[in-house]
Amino acid sequence: MPDLAYLNGEIMPIEKAMVPIEDRGYQFGDSVYEYIATYDGRFFMLEAHLDRLERSMSELNYAPIARDELKTAIEELNHQAGYPRAGIYIQISRGVAPRNHAFDAKLAHQFVMTVRAVHELPKEARSKGINAITIPDMRWGRCDIKTVQLLANSLAKQKALDAGCDDAIFVSQHGIVREGTSSNVFIVSGKQLMTHPLTENILAGITRMVIIQICKKIGLDVNITLFNTEALYNADEVFLTGTVTEILPVVRIDGNGIGKGKPGSISRKLFKRLRERALAGEPD
Ligand code: PDD
Repeated sequence: MPDLAYLNGEIMPIEKAMVPIEDRGYQFGDSVYEYIATYDGRFFMLEAHLDRLERSMSELNYAPIARDELKTAIEELNHQAGYPRAGIYIQISRGVAPRNHAFDAKLAHQFVMTVRAVHELPKEARSKGINAITIPDMRWGRCDIKTVQLLANSLAKQKALDAGCDDAIFVSQHGIVREGTSSNVFIVSGKQLMTHPLTENILAGITRMVIIQICKKIGLDVNITLFNTEALYNADEVFLTGTVTEILPVVRIDGNGIGKGKPGSISRKLFKRLRERALAGEPD
């Protein structure tokens, strides 16, 4: 099955898709993105991802793209690739222009996508949990906008791998736990869950939102509040949420064992519920 790209209306093999070197996404990080996955060939939470994409674009004063146009393009790319479990990466940049910090509001977007099979996380990561480090959050002040300015995220992830761990969790200068390099963070203490509120310091994760909905449905209380590294280290369970991550238990952070040092019952239950919901193929 082919890995395909979409480039401003045309679908082609990935290696044939090229963007001009003066794309503002390339020179200024002036580009927004989404990553959406399918289960059994059907998108999970497509509308919510499109809502977030449109919000990212409007926060940066990009001209809008009609929802129908976006959807038709995404669905066609997915259809042509035909993967049962596809990951569609969508990137929209402000456009192409001679390098200049200021920009012309009338630039034409560059709308590109790729589709590949989702690489499932290693079974061991899910069954045993992962190790993480914390890292000072040096990102810009609008992490709620899903831009391609991911250098801090990329360096943090690499630092974790170089330290023999699996991922990094961003922490503010005041010790507030924000989010993972490509995921949101939840902690569990007793039957109470906690996660960071939706502010400009984290991405409003779609998986985070679904987990909060599932918790409500099954009677688990989620306290949406700031919490610090001490609460993180002392939690019974810690897990990350994201489109690829789904729910991933973290069992060791900065060398501190979390809870019993293995995935806890709430993380396991929520993972099962999330998969059931994704596989049910209901509209968002
Ligand atoms: N990232 N926080 C950050 C910084 C992220 O990059 C992501 C997702 C999330 C989780 O969001 P969601 O549940 O909507 O996937 C939180 C995507 C998967 C990526 O960068 O590829």
